[in-house]
Amino acid sequence: MLTIVLPTGRVLKDALSLMEKTGIPVEKINDRGRKLIVNEGNFRFIFAKPMDVPLHISHGTADIGFVGSDIMKELNVPLVELVDTGRGKCRMVVAGPPELEPRFSGHESGLMWLTVATKYPNIADRHFSSLGVQVQILNLHGSIELAPVIGLSDCILDIVQTGRTLKANNLKILDNVIPVSLYLAANKKSSQFKWQEISNIVHKIKEIKEGEDLEQDI
Ligand code: PRP
Repeated sequence: MLTIVLPTGRVLKDALSLMEKTGIPVEKINDRGRKLIVNEGNFRFIFAKPMDVPLHISHGTADIGFVGSDIMKELNVPLVELVDTGRGKCRMVVAGPPELEPRFSGHESGLMWLTVATKYPNIADRHFSSLGVQVQILNLHGSIELAPVIGLSDCILDIVQTGRTLKANNLKILDNVIPVSLYLAANKKSSQFKWQEISNIVHKIKEIKEGEDLEQDI
């Protein structure tokens, strides 16, 4: 029995389509309604908020799981990064109102004492520290784009996928921080004791990814 933790929200679709391609049964998942645990064949699937996926993996309540590289970097929980699925690609950026652009195009000292709203306080802290500037970080849990629009912060550090939320709120990308994508990760002990089952899945994901890369090149 292999327990897989799946992130709810927008990345679930990416994880499920990939699982289906690897031959993991997903029919019962699609009909799960509000159930948080689904058993099918040799698999148990559990559903958690994306930010809680690393904790399930590190505590061993799941053997493996799909987790964004943004969340792994933010939480820094000990787990085994098995493979970058190449799905759920987006970027972590600093964004804000266009008036703020001159402060980002000049010397780093222009960024001193900015107020930054984010779901990623640790990444924000590391990013601005690496630029040698001190900022005030406001830790929000969602709708981050609201903060600079309503005057709660100067700018945000957040992920951008389509760019629609930024555009709808008249915000611009001011700086690129890191690329983000969905990883398959494992619990340390499971990756030893259940290596055969886990490596089969990893191997298939790598094959699928290589096939897709080849298609893109043609
Ligand atoms: C994420 C992120 C942005 C938005 C970006 O939020 O925090 O707000 O998606 O996506 P876009 O570039 O495609 O518009 P999410 O939708 O996960 O919801 P949240 O605000 O509750 O965190």
